[in-house]
This record gives sequence, structure tokens and C-alpha cells, in this order.
Amino acid sequence: MKQISIFLPILILAAAACSRPSVSTTGSTPEVEARVSRLLSQMTLAEKIGQMNQISVGGSVSDYAEAVRNGQVGSILNEVDPEKINAFQRLAVEESRLGIPLLVGRDVIHGFHTVFPIPLGLASTFDPALVEKGARIAALEATAQGVRWTFSPMLDIARDPRWGRIAEGSGEDTFLDARMGEAMVRGYQGEVLDTTSMAACIKHFVGYGAAEGGRDYNSTFLTERQLRNVYLPPFEAAVKAGAMTLMTSFNDNDGVPSTGNAFVLDEVLRREWGFDGLVVTDWNSMGEMIVHGFGTDRKDVAEKAVKAGVDMDMMTYGFVSHLEELVRSGAVREADVDRAVRNILRVKVLLGLFEHPYVDVEAAKAVQYAPAHLEAARTAAQESAVLLANDGTLPLREGLRILVTGPLADAPHDQLGTWAFDGEKNHTITPLAALRDRFPGQVTYVPGLRYSREHRDRFDDVTAAARRSDVVLAFLGEEAILSGEAHSLADLNLKGSQSDLLAALHSTGKPVVAVVMAGRPLTVERDLPHCNALLYSFHPGTMGGPALADLLSGDVNPSGKTPVTFLRTVGQAPLYYNHNRTGRPYNRETMLDDIGLEAGQTSLGNTSYYLDYGAYPLFPFGYGLSYTEFTYSDIALDKEIYGPEETLDISLTLRNTGSRDGTEVVQVYVRDLVGSVTRPVRELKHFERVPLKAGESRPLRIRIPVRELAFWGLDGTWKVEPGDFQLWVAGDSASGEPVSFKVN
Ligand code: GLC
Repeated sequence: MKQISIFLPILILAAAACSRPSVSTTGSTPEVEARVSRLLSQMTLAEKIGQMNQISVGGSVSDYAEAVRNGQVGSILNEVDPEKINAFQRLAVEESRLGIPLLVGRDVIHGFHTVFPIPLGLASTFDPALVEKGARIAALEATAQGVRWTFSPMLDIARDPRWGRIAEGSGEDTFLDARMGEAMVRGYQGEVLDTTSMAACIKHFVGYGAAEGGRDYNSTFLTERQLRNVYLPPFEAAVKAGAMTLMTSFNDNDGVPSTGNAFVLDEVLRREWGFDGLVVTDWNSMGEMIVHGFGTDRKDVAEKAVKAGVDMDMMTYGFVSHLEELVRSGAVREADVDRAVRNILRVKVLLGLFEHPYVDVEAAKAVQYAPAHLEAARTAAQESAVLLANDGTLPLREGLRILVTGPLADAPHDQLGTWAFDGEKNHTITPLAALRDRFPGQVTYVPGLRYSREHRDRFDDVTAAARRSDVVLAFLGEEAILSGEAHSLADLNLKGSQSDLLAALHSTGKPVVAVVMAGRPLTVERDLPHCNALLYSFHPGTMGGPALADLLSGDVNPSGKTPVTFLRTVGQAPLYYNHNRTGRPYNRETMLDDIGLEAGQTSLGNTSYYLDYGAYPLFPFGYGLSYTEFTYSDIALDKEIYGPEETLDISLTLRNTGSRDGTEVVQVYVRDLVGSVTRPVRELKHFERVPLKAGESRPLRIRIPVRELAFWGLDGTWKVEPGDFQLWVAGDSASGEPVSFKVN
């Protein structure tokens, strides 16, 4: 028997090597693989299936002791107390037969204890290096307490702000989303895997953000071309960045729930991309395939999931309940179970969990809220705020009597935003506190509204206070719970009486600055006439107050850019910058009131827009103002015709023509004029933050490989098609003049 056990790992290794791509995307090595094979060869079928089971825990560890001791649990989520995590690990490592440690997971979405801006805010920074730093800090804090797996980054492209989870991703653009996802993967996992590495989990695979009507969990109907050109690239980029895990999504796409979709989970993810990390379902998304009407019962959906490529089951108990029977009956091959367990063990070995399953409880305390962490969160909140309008009221002059009002002025819980499970509101510094510190003796506070949904008829107290002030700062927006999972909205206007409050403040004749903290781009067009300036801050996190005080005072110049399109009205949804041209692109505004009575019908000269709201958004993707001005000039390409393997060499001069230092996010967009399929009117292909002193001008050179212009065409392959292209270098997706070039 011993003899066989020596050769068995080698045979398994050889077999596995045949099916797996040559290079490991998770950074595994032959030594890791051999170790995994040795362990796998010692496991019973029941123990293998136990590794495929993830359970959410809470309360007493003893409630789960038997299951863990019996090897029926491979992972837990929702425990963050280091003492309890150590207790769970002791049960697995010291009391189970094989001593396999648990993977401890948690939604560390935008910070652990030190909460950063929500991901949509982080995307507004257009600063991957900063976002990577924030993810690294989240990993330092979370791993210190024993959390070694985060269910982040969320890479779902979101083109519909009715969808509450737009808050959790990087917005509407594939290129920006991919850069942010890569940065978070690097930050969470670290340059070198060690005990501060937290396995990233790229989610929700795939297309979840295209839920019809923006209603969460709803069906999606994405073609393979849309998947290939818009929704899959950020996941591929994150896999190439080394993401160790992936989570399936709740939605069915074209009738197939992602948790049972072998095309995306096996064909694309494994065979094309070579992903060798682990695939976990979303919470009971396996069980929900019954509700979808895609499976008859838990045994059926367990079979469908494991065959499609799922490795671990979050909270359906489908694998632990039915997989052994399915294997014994021959319905499922044990090889499929081995594949799943190999992926799980690979992640555990790579994370070093076998050597370091425990944490130092005392040492963990010193890591939380470290000054450097708070400073980084403050910088992220500064860079994430987007200045959308300003008549010169900002930055605030010194010596002003300032009225602070609004439901988000002193809302330490809501300021943290959605998915801030481990944020502690007593650590939040609110705008009110920060402004009182920045402008001692100058600040008066009258709430006006206690929370964002509150209704009030009169604002006499606030308007009276406004008349005694020189400037009003109104902090408006959404309570944290009004965005995020399951919180879709059909009306995107400011809730409650917030717009009435703003109008009342405006009626006093005093300058009013609106600062909006929200989880999505709200429709604020009706509020614009009532404010002299509008600073948009997607729930800025723990240090949002100091960051906003830095920006409002002018100590820091705003540099954020919109990662999503801001609609004029919710009826325009979905509306995004990188849309196809259509056969009748919008070219003029015959608005509702321009139409004469009994006007004759004609199909001539009509184009694609709304009679009542036109075709344009309130603010386009990539838009954001500064306290200074930037100009772009001398934009040129090094030649007119490029081969598919060449590189666009773009030169330009960027000038800061204002009186303040500032940072511009330079954006490069490209359009493929004619393709085997219709192509978007613009696509972001490069961005970079360029700090310039007042009056400074700087020559820039930007290089973009022509192969970056490839797309999934009519013949179902990735390639750059020859033809005419246009390129813009500008400060947003609606500005700039095109430069033409050809690809042969
Ligand atoms: C939730 C979310 C997912 C999260 C998981 C665990 O339903 O869809 O994003 O990671 O469950 O909390």
C-alpha cells in the first residue's frame, strides 16, 4: 500500500499538469503542486468535499467545533475577532485528522477598520497607485486579525446608477475598471506572498452590473461580444495580476446563472486565461439556481455547479449534502472534486496558512488605525472628490462666518458608505468636526435635516442662521444604506426634503456650497441653480471630514474625475460615454416645446435622443473641475500610419494657466471608425495624473501599443482591424479635438 501511496501523488501531478496551462496565474510552483498532491492523496472523499464548503459564522466557536473538527468546513466568513479566529484555526489544525487550516474570508471592500472612500470614489481618483496603497493597508489591518481572504475587488462594470451596487465598483469604463482591479489585487496580496497577504476575490463573475432596469439580482442579456469587449477584460487583467480567487455572480445571463455557467467558468476562465485559483459561489447562489428555475433541487444544482467549475460553495451546503452521493453514483467524477480541492489547497499553501495559521492578538491592535493608514485614507478622500460646479465661491476665503448644515454634515456612520462592515463610526472624523478645527470660531452648525430621507416643511432655523453667515456649506446625499447590495432606486433625486433645504438656503441670497456624499451619481440638475458650487464626494470614509475641509479651504486642490456618467434624469438610464454611434447619432435638439401643433410625422432627419431631456448627460465620464485651469496644446502623433505591432507615440503640452497648483487627469480616448462590427464613439485607452505648479507647462509623451485597440470582432477573435482611427487627449470624455491616424 505504501508503494502505491508514493507513486499516487506523482500520477495525480502528471494528470493535473496535462489539464492545467503551463504558467500558474496564482504564482504556484512545482513544489507547491507536489505538496498539494501529497495532501490530496491522503484525503478521504468526505474530507475533500469538506474543503469545498464555506460557512458564515457568528456567536460561539463551539457551535461549529464538530463540523470543523470533522473536516467538513474548508472556509469561514464573517468572523473578525482574532481570538475566535485562532480558536477556529486550532480546531482545524490541531483537532482535525489532516490539520488543514481554514480560509478566513470577509468583505473588506474599501478598508478594514480604516475605511477608505467607497470603490466608486476610489475610481474617481484615477490613481491606481493610491488605490493599491489603500488595499495594502486594508490587508495589513485585516490579516493582523486573521482575515486572509477578502471578497474584493468588485469588477462589475456599471452603466446604470439605479443599481445600488454601482457604489462597490469602479464605474462604467472597462479600462479604468481593469486598472483599479489590478491595483487592488496587488495591494491585497502584496508584491510577495507573506502573512500580510490577503487573497483577493474578483467578483461578481460575470455581467452582474448589467442587471436589467438596474434592479439588483435581475437577469442580464449580454452577448458574447459584449462580454468579451466590455465585461470580461477587467477580470482577465485581474487574473493576470495574480488574483487568487473569483466569485460567481447572482445573475443569469441569457438564461444561464453564472454559478452554473461552464462557458465563463471553464472555457474562458480556465482554458483561455489559465486561472488556477479557486472559484467560490456568491452567498447561496448555488441554491438560487433552483429559484432561477435552472435546477430541480439542491442535489441537482450541486452537480451543475461542480461540473461548471465551482470549487467552493458559500452557504448553500450543496456540496457537503450531496456531492459524496453524486460521486458514488458516478454522476460526478471524483476528478472534478480533486480539481476543486486542488485549487483550494493551492491557495491555502500559497498563503502560508499551514505554517502560520494563528495571529498575535496583541500585535493586531497596534496595526489598526495607524497614523499612516489614516493619512492615506485622507489623501484618498481628497483625490476622490469631484468638483462639478464652482462660480468662484470655492475655495473659501479666510475669515468667513460659515454655516454648516445638512444631514451628512455630522453623520459618522453614513459617511463610511456601504460595505464598511468593520468601520467604526467613533473613529470617523466628520466634515463638521474637521471644519471647526480648520476654521476655529467661524463655524455655526444647524442640521436642517437629521437624515437624508427626512421630510420637513419649513427651514426657518437654518435660513435665519444662513442670513447671519457669509457662506453656507450644505452636506447632502445618501445614508449609507441607500446604496449597495439590493438597494436599487428608481428615482435618483436627493431624497427627503434635501432639495427644499438647498432652495431655502439659496433664497437667503448667501453663497451656498453643496457637498454631496452618496453611493452613486444622483440626478442633481434641479439642485444646480440653488448652489454656487457643487463638490461630489462618493462616501469618503473615516477621514472624509478632514479631506473635505482640505478641499473646501483650498489647502488641497480638487482633482477627482467622474468614473460614471451623471444623468440629467433617471429616464436617461442607461447612458454612458463609450456607446456605439447608431445609424442616427444625435445631432440636433428639436425639443418638446419646439414641436408645432398638429405637426406632421416624418422619419426624415430624426436622431437618437429624448424630446424632453436631449441626448447628453449632466456631467460626462471623466469630468471634474479644479481651482485652476489646464490647457492642452500641440497634440500630435509621431506618424499617420501604424502597423498592428507598433506603438502610438503621442506628444502634447499641458499647461496650468491658473494661479494655483493643481493636478489634471490626462485622458486618452480612441475611436475605431469602421469595424467588422460597430465600435464605440470613444474608448479610454490611457490616463495619468499630472501635477503642475501654477503657470507651469510640461511636454508629455504617451505611448499606447496599437494592439491595445484590439476588440472581439465579427469572426470571434481578438484583433486590431486595419482602417481609420481617431484619438483625443483631453480632461474628460466629451472634450478635445480628434487627431486621425490609420492602422494597416
Ligand atoms: C453578498 C454579496 C457578495 C459578498 C458575499 C459575502 O451577497 O453579493 O458581494 O462578498 O455575499 O458577504
